Amino acid sequence: MENFIYDIPTRVYFGRGQIEQLKRELPAYGTRILLVYGGGSIKKNGIYEELRQIERETGIEIFELSGVEANPTIRTAQRGIALCREYEVDAVLAVGGGSVIDCAKAVAAGRFYEGDPWDLVLHWDRITEALPLLTVLTIAATGSEMDSIAVISNEETQDKMAMKHPVLRPRVSILDPSYTFSVSAYQSTAGAADILSHAMESYFAREEARLQDYFAQSIMKVCIECAPKVLEHPEDYEARANLMWAGSWAINDMLKLGHALPWSVHAIEHQLSAVYDITHGVGLAVVTPHWMEHVLKEETVDKFYELAVNVWKVPENSDRFAAARAGIQALRDFYRSLGIVSRLSELGIDETHFEEMAEKAARQAEGSYQPMTKADIVQIYKNSL
Ligand code: NZQ
Ligand code: ZN
Repeated sequence: MENFIYDIPTRVYFGRGQIEQLKRELPAYGTRILLVYGGGSIKKNGIYEELRQIERETGIEIFELSGVEANPTIRTAQRGIALCREYEVDAVLAVGGGSVIDCAKAVAAGRFYEGDPWDLVLHWDRITEALPLLTVLTIAATGSEMDSIAVISNEETQDKMAMKHPVLRPRVSILDPSYTFSVSAYQSTAGAADILSHAMESYFAREEARLQDYFAQSIMKVCIECAPKVLEHPEDYEARANLMWAGSWAINDMLKLGHALPWSVHAIEHQLSAVYDITHGVGLAVVTPHWMEHVLKEETVDKFYELAVNVWKVPENSDRFAAARAGIQALRDFYRSLGIVSRLSELGIDETHFEEMAEKAARQAEGSYQPMTKADIVQIYKNSL
């Protein structure tokens, strides 16, 4: 296990009705708050009205950045930065999914940077401070509610990249599983696929870290057990709650402790959702089995074997490759059972941009679990078509 610092300071209020805690938490950060939200789901499911009620009761003043798109853009973050300056806001409140929270992170840090905020994505060392960020999570997926990462797209350059810095981590996150009842079946399964992927990305590490490995496997099992339940009963509170908490822990740094390698499949997927604006979790589900087949070999087979036996309940087998392949097939079958497509062509993607996407992905995945050249990644894209 590599050396590490354990420091996950987000205060989490988990459970029904926890939004009430904002009455105490928000005034602790100031009186002028920028509310950041997406395309309007928070108005349909009543959260927006609850926030307005909190505003009336506490006397804080709420300004708004709305319309944050799925796969949020730097342009939208720029609008938010301008609002922060114009209204001299004290803190940012993100209410939504990973896209909204990530945009809010870029806004919170961009507020203190005089240049083009895209610089902060390219040069993390230029992030110096950020407005305090509080979140209300409405979909179980990215874990942005508890991590220090924001993934931002640049439409002009067709880039999608992560920025990461400790000041981006939310101070407070409200996790009320009942807020996810209204998430569509499509987004629920994409979210579960994302959580599963985060656990797998951390699991495929070169260094030994057994607690983190078993913890990752447990998170995978929660996804496998609970995703079908929320499809069948969208208001299954326990299933929604388990998925939500799994989502936070899959990426809040615990799994990465002791083996912090760059992730492989995320680098490959982010290029797809940069160019084609597809749903992140769906892109991951399509590409992951092909990445697995590409890197399965003598040096990696033990990791695949353990995953197959412990998580996918493949019978123990002296032929480790056969068992490993059965595990990959079980993953494919699981995605299919959730109704997730299995080919890039079903998402309207063809070979046009494979070369340039693979070049960017290879740079982002440098140093990952298995070395991947541009040619490797082009091959993985082609196999996924
Ligand atoms: O925009 P609204 O109207 O809110 O609708 C959203 C959006 O259309 C909807 N939704 C969210 N909560 C809902 C709801 N609809 C009904 N009821 C609710 N309670 O769901 C749609 C998708 O939302 P989005 O925020 O885009 O989903 P997700 O949380 O999956 O975030 C995806 C983004 O996060 C990035 C992805 O690349 C992508 O850009 N990631 C961020 C990470 C991080 N910060 O650590 C890591 C991830 O690996 C990922 O890359
Ligand atoms: Zn992800």
